[in-house]
Amino acid sequence: MNNPIRIASMALPALILASCAEEPADLPYGTAQQFMADHVQPTAETYWDAVGAVSELVDGEPVFREFEPETEEEWEEVRLAAVSLREFGEVLASPSYASTRDDDWLDFANGLQEVSQRAEQAAIDQDPEAVFEVGGTIYSVCSACHQMYPPADLPEGVTVEDMGTDTNRPSLDQSLEDYREGAAE
Ligand code: HEC
Repeated sequence: MNNPIRIASMALPALILASCAEEPADLPYGTAQQFMADHVQPTAETYWDAVGAVSELVDGEPVFREFEPETEEEWEEVRLAAVSLREFGEVLASPSYASTRDDDWLDFANGLQEVSQRAEQAAIDQDPEAVFEVGGTIYSVCSACHQMYPPADLPEGVTVEDMGTDTNRPSLDQSLEDYREGAAE
């Protein structure tokens, strides 16, 4: 059965993105900073937060809990985050954002697209290890670009290394297993 409501809701994200107007026409998503804060960072967090481990207090006792997507819907959410990240890489590579930068910028923007494709494949394969590892690679692309193009002014106490990180984001060379063992200690 063709379901018009579902079709409408699938088209919605594109509409929301397109309606982030009031910006100069040549920067469809606002400045690089706005684009990062409003789109790139939250989407990367969706991907990074898909698998991992947390220690939670239950009745005052720390309880260790591992998590990864359980349902088809949850995996689909992770996949869609990867698809969006690839699109964001395209946006960054587009003349609106790339024309005032040099070739390194294009390399990083293209790198984000490539790694996002691997990220999508990991979600299609429903492979938590791969999602975790590609997540680390995504982070290294983010941070490589930030090292090369640091923002003019960072908030007090924030370093370039902090940018784009998120509290659950572990170190890059760890496997999911190592990370979970470390978090359990
Ligand atoms: C092609 C280069 C490039 C890539 C790739 C990139 N960024 Fe950025 N990002 C920037 C630039 C440039 C700024 C700083 C803008 C400014 O403040 O001048 C920035 C700033 C940020 C900020 C700070 C926004 C704020 O509120 O000030 C966050 C968070 C961020 N990026 C997250 C990410 C994440 C997460 C990724 C990877 C998924 C990523 N970025 C990939 C160029 C990039």
